Amino acid sequence: MIRVQSVSKNYGSGSGITCALKDVTADIDDGSFTVILGASGSGKSTLLNVMSGLERVDSGKIIYDDTDLTQLSDKELTLFRRRVVGLVFQQYYLIASMSVQDNVRMGAELATGSDYKAIIKAIGLEDKLNKFPSELSGGEQQRVAIARALAKKPTVLFADEPTGALDEETGRQILDYIDRLHKESNLSVVMVTHNANIADMADKVIYMNSGRVEKVELRASKKSAYEIDW
Ligand SMILES: Nc1ncnc2c1ncn2[C@@H]1O[C@H](COP(=O)(O)OP(=O)(O)OP(=O)(O)O)[C@@H](O)[C@H]1O
Ligand SMILES: [Mg+2]
Repeated sequence: MIRVQSVSKNYGSGSGITCALKDVTADIDDGSFTVILGASGSGKSTLLNVMSGLERVDSGKIIYDDTDLTQLSDKELTLFRRRVVGLVFQQYYLIASMSVQDNVRMGAELATGSDYKAIIKAIGLEDKLNKFPSELSGGEQQRVAIARALAKKPTVLFADEPTGALDEETGRQILDYIDRLHKESNLSVVMVTHNANIADMADKVIYMNSGRVEKVELRASKKSAYEIDW
């Protein structure tokens, strides 16, 4: 269980201050699928970044079972992230000088040696193994970023707009792959998206508005990636 307790986070200072998160509280159950929705600028990426330990909060706590991330040193936090968290960013952040397979393998080597080639196959890029990011489309780069995050077998996958750059068919395929890992390996998924239909795949939907949690919905029935509207 991940508990976000009364978290606030500002960017900048003085008259230029932006309150990106204001007293945000939320729970993420182990093995659950959570979708975060909200308008542009409402704090979705910031929430994902503090939950995953990528950024520090200004106040409040982020607690994984009995580990409070806000109490860890920078080094401890990096090791924790490496072990537990898979991250897919809104921008892909692939290493430009590395091929597809090396980008994915880098993720795998951060933890136990998982079969990164099987993951590349599952996301449909086995014929691009030796291509470089600059030779790929946006959607293909996004898929490599997803494969890299999954290759290290994280406990939690945080994904910021993972289907934003994908066409419908590829988007559904990637969501289906993530959903299968979620169900078969008990992977917890926390996904930010502008596609409100993806909320139909979730156990929980968190609606953000101006840095606050506006509403939390629990969903009893979940749809598959091929059953949702697009
Ligand atoms: N590094 C930063 N420096 C200054 N302000 C920032 C920074 N990152 C985010 N913000 C501001 O914090 C607020 C929340 O941003 P955030 O990126 O979390 O929004 P979002 O909901 O993810 O939006 P989008 O849907 O456009 O990605 C916005 O007002 C944004 O301008
Ligand atoms: Mg964002």
